[in-house]
Formats: sequence, structure tokens, C-alpha cells
Amino acid sequence: MMRTHTCGDLRAAHIDQTVTLCGWVQNRRDHGGIIFIDLRDRYGLTQVTFDPDLCGAAAHEQANRIRSEWVLKVTGTVKSRGDRKNPNLATGEIELFVTGLEILNQAATPPFEIDDHVKVSEEPRLKSRFLDLRRAPMQRNLITRHQVMQVVRRYFDANQFLEVETPTLCKYTPGGARNFLVPSRMQPGSFYAMAESPQLFKQLLMVGGYDRYIQIARCYRDEDLRNDRQPEFTQIDLEMSFIDMDDIMDMGEGMARQVWREVLGFELPAKFRRMTWTEGMLKYGSDKPDLRFGLEIVDLTDWAPTSGFSVFQSAVANKGVVRAINAKGASEQLSRRTLDALTEQAKGLGAKGLAWIKIGADPAKAEDWQGPAAKNITPEARAELGRRLGVGPGDVLFFGADREKTVCTVLGGIRLELGRNLLKLARQDDWQFLWIHSAPLFEWSEEANAFVANHHPFTCPYPEHLDALTTDPGSVLSKSYDMVLNGNEIGGGSIRIHDAATQSKVFAALGISPEDAQRKFGFLLHALSFGAPPHGGMAFGLDRLVMLITGAESIRDVIAFPKNQRGRDEMLDCPTPVSDRQLKDLHIVTAAPAAATAP
Ligand code: AMO
Ligand code: AMP
Repeated sequence: MMRTHTCGDLRAAHIDQTVTLCGWVQNRRDHGGIIFIDLRDRYGLTQVTFDPDLCGAAAHEQANRIRSEWVLKVTGTVKSRGDRKNPNLATGEIELFVTGLEILNQAATPPFEIDDHVKVSEEPRLKSRFLDLRRAPMQRNLITRHQVMQVVRRYFDANQFLEVETPTLCKYTPGGARNFLVPSRMQPGSFYAMAESPQLFKQLLMVGGYDRYIQIARCYRDEDLRNDRQPEFTQIDLEMSFIDMDDIMDMGEGMARQVWREVLGFELPAKFRRMTWTEGMLKYGSDKPDLRFGLEIVDLTDWAPTSGFSVFQSAVANKGVVRAINAKGASEQLSRRTLDALTEQAKGLGAKGLAWIKIGADPAKAEDWQGPAAKNITPEARAELGRRLGVGPGDVLFFGADREKTVCTVLGGIRLELGRNLLKLARQDDWQFLWIHSAPLFEWSEEANAFVANHHPFTCPYPEHLDALTTDPGSVLSKSYDMVLNGNEIGGGSIRIHDAATQSKVFAALGISPEDAQRKFGFLLHALSFGAPPHGGMAFGLDRLVMLITGAESIRDVIAFPKNQRGRDEMLDCPTPVSDRQLKDLHIVTAAPAAATAP
């Protein structure tokens, strides 16, 4: 070992010891003959001091030439800093008086300062990721990620789960996310699909008798990217046999509790809140409600016809709904300009408008109800509205009147904007976990003009809803559950169909013919016919989990080498064109311009 200690180790107890440190130069200050260097590694920062009387003229001369990010090995004596202690630094009580210096390497001038608070955009950071990774916040994120993975592995190991690896080169199966495809050289014209999740393999493992499976698995999805999405991400993937919904939810909760306890020292409740998907949509306009604040949505559909306001009346006449949010006492915080901006935002979410009412000092007075919707509402309807929304002085009411789906999206979005941004009701360190369960099995897709699987086509419907598969597919609820944290979906799963007959029925409801089902999922149907046990599971998004734990703003900040928003690796500069020769080997002809720049 070249060093005796790390740059984060030394304390008052080490005073007078001779030690050797290795690290990078954070900065260099010349104080009239004495040179101070902050030496950095991933453990911390230590002040090393070059006093020509102690280190000798040659080392002092060398120290003069040292620049940021050079790599040094320094030997010296630990001394007290006396009354110049730095309370903000773990090693702030001491400094190292250098007696020997070895320059291990020099460094070009970095494109940005290696500092806690970067002032540059993300692009140069991603381009020189190795430098960005030297920054303490990035190191903290990756250390937390490591800790989470260790806790997760220990937890599942203690619960008799087996870690089994499954292929990432798989068969293309339709539905779900768009797959990345990999051409086969040995089977001309055929392609592997990169696994979007180990879903089918873990079900096959259940058929194989591995009743408790866990994998920290890489998944690949060719989706449009956002701040919480990467094309290549990691799941904590589990599956169990001989269980029902509660068992998986308990197991998932247990994992979250242990992670929060061991990584954050925070005790989560013994039981997480559970809410049906239907209740989530009704009260929060979302399948992933942020419960750090109230601002619940109230249904007014039965009130609307007598409201006297034509916008509300016609929405109901057109089989829509009318719902509202009461932002209690928010009148002062919501200026006319803010309300106009909110209305624009509502329109962006698909609304035709956003009726609002501002309540003055006395809700009993008609003139204290102000806003575009106020004047049309009859006195009786106003009194009833006051009761239903619990209207008090200074409240602001927001209304959505449209098809149910639109109202959920709009009021759900307005609720988040109010709670998170405008009224600042959400604290970052308030951990509001929630299970959203029993979502509809199918979702109507305007694009496909057909029902599509809400989760995936292997999700088990409630047995009492099986008959409705043919008569009213939209009403069938599934044994599914998502773990939600502060408005983010951090995991999800379901009980699976374990018999071939039910699976065929679901395929039929999805418009997948028996021949198609055989061709696409034959291996699964085959396996289900050989004594598949009742089973189910879920997967957590590890990157999202770590992003929330660390408070990182983007998923990219908790991944060592992420892709940018356009799916490019800025550092490797990829994807890249390849040579004609390579394409020929793969039997591929591209319509793209000739790969002139292929390496
Ligand atoms: P699902 O598709 O819901 O379920 O994925 C599980 C969890 O993975 C995370 N996640 C992502 N994280 C980063 N980037 C992405 N592109 C991305 N996509 C998903 C989310 C999500 O909750 N096989 C099923 C699980 C099961 O049924 O057992 C599945 O993959 O946090
Ligand atoms: P209008 O009658 O179009 O002038 O609208 C009166 C008020 O109702 C305005 O504040 C609109 O923003 C609002 N509004 C219009 N359509 C809707 C709707 N579908 N849902 C909620 N508010 C609406």
C-alpha cells in the first residue's frame, strides 16, 4: 500500500505521528513562503503544508509547480492546527507538515472545477464523467447506491430468496416497452431483444420450483427519456410462489423499512398505507399520489346539474364529471397572474378551462365569492358547495368539468403544482409511502383502438371478475400493486396468471389470437401447463429509489455512467455508425446515410 491513511482519516489523536497520504490536489494556496494544499480522495480532504524549513527547498520548489488535480504522495508529521481549526472539515483539527513529496502524476486543466456545487451544465459533466465522479456529491450518491444494494441483498438472503441471473439477450415479445434489438450473426435476419425486465424468466423460475427469487437486474427499454428514466436501468426484481397480494406487499415493505433504517437511520411505519387505484384517481387524480399534502379532490358530479353554471351542467350531460379542489386559505398566495398561469397549465393537460373561485373574508356573502365561475352559481348551489368543500375565508376553489380521465389528469396536475410548487406543502424529507393496488386489468388505447394490458398480459384478474373479461373488459380489476413514494412510482408488480386457460382468456380479451399467443408466448403457455404454482412478484426501480433517498434531481446523478436525455453516452460518444463490413456480417442494410465515420 502506498499510503498509511486516507485523506479523511486524520484526527487530533494522530498528532505527532508520521503518515503517508495519496490523493488529488483540490487547491493550492501560497501564503508567503508556506504552501497549503488540500489533498482529496473519496474519504475526505486533508490540509498538507509545505514549510521550506521542514520539507526542504527542493520539495518546496516542486510544490510551487503543483496544479489542481495532480496526484501526490506526501509523507509528513500530523500537527494540531491550533486556533486555525476548520470546524467544517472532518480533518479540520489537524494539518500534515510535509517532509517528503512524490508527484505521482500531473493533470491537464479540468474543463470544470471539481467542486460540490458545479456551475456548468450537465453536458461537460457527462463528457468527462470520470472528473464529475470525483466530486463529493456524486461519490456520496454512488456510496448510498452501494449501501442500498448491500442492504437489499442481505434482506432477501435472510428471507430465503435465491439470487438467480437471467438472460438479457431474449426473444422479442410484443406489448410493454419498445425493445432494443440485437441482430444475430448466426441466424441471418433474426434478432434478439434486450430484456425489458426478467418478467417471463422469473415466472419460469417459479415453475422450476425456485419459490423465492431475487435479482438485481439490468433492464433495457427504448423509451423517450425523462429525469426519472434511463434506457438502461436497474431493477430489484423478486418473485414468490404460494403467496397472495398481501405477502408480496409485506415483503416489499420490509425491504423498504430495512433500507431506510440502515441507510438513512429512519424508522418507517410498521404498515404502509394502502389505497385502491380507483380511490387514488378519485381523490388525487393520479395512480401515484403524493401524500405529503392533502388538497384532496372532491366529486361534485351529482351537485353540478343544479349548480346553475352551464360549463358544469353540460359536462355532466355529456357523461362527464365535475370535481374540485379547495386550496384552504391560499388566497393571498395565489395572485391573479398565478391563477392565469394555472389555467394555462390546465389547458396544457387537456382541459378546456380551469374555473376557479376566490373566497373573501365572509363565505356567507355572495360578493365574497370571486372568479369566472362564481357569478353563475345559484345561492342554493353555493351554500351546498360551501358545505361539501368545507369552504372558509381565504380559500381558493378549482374546478374540472370534463370526461373523467381528463378531469383526473387536470386536477391531479393542478394539485401537484399547488402542493409542491405554489403553496410549498411538500417537505423533501417527509417519506410518504403508499401502495396503490387493484388497478384495472386493461386500459383503453385510443392509438390502438383496443384494450391493452395496463401492467403486462400475465397479470391476474380478480377471480370474481373473470366473466367480465368478455362482456365488459374495462371493468375488470387486477391483483396488482405499485409502491409509491412522494408521488413517484418506485416499484410495481402483480399476482400472475398461473393456469393456461385464464392466460388464454386474457390474451383473447387483448385481441391476441390463439395462434398469435402460441407464436409469441408459446413457451410460457407450455410451461403453465406443467404444474405452475400460484405466484406473483414485483420489481423496484433501484435508480429511482436511490434518487429519492439521496434527494438527487435526476436519475443520472445516481448512475455512474448514464446516457443523456437523447440516449447518448457523451463520454464514449455513442451510439456510433459501424463499418459496412460489420453490417454485412450481420446481414443488415441500413437506410441511414453511409457510415462514413465508422471506426
Ligand atoms: P415496471 O415496468 O413497472 O414492472 O418496472 C418496475 C420499476 O422499474 C422502474 N422503471 C424505471 N426506472 C428507470 N428507468 C426506466 N426507464 C424505468 N422503467 C421502469 C420503476 C418501476 O416501478 N416486470 C415488471 C415487474 C413485475 O411485475 O414484477 C416490471 O418491469 O420504478
Ligand atoms: P367560459 O364559459 O368558457 O367563459 O368559462 C368560464 C370559466 O370556466 C373559465 O374560467 C374557464 O376557464 C372555465 N372552464 C371552461 N371550461 C371548463 C371545464 N371544462 N372545466 C373547468 N373549467 C372550465
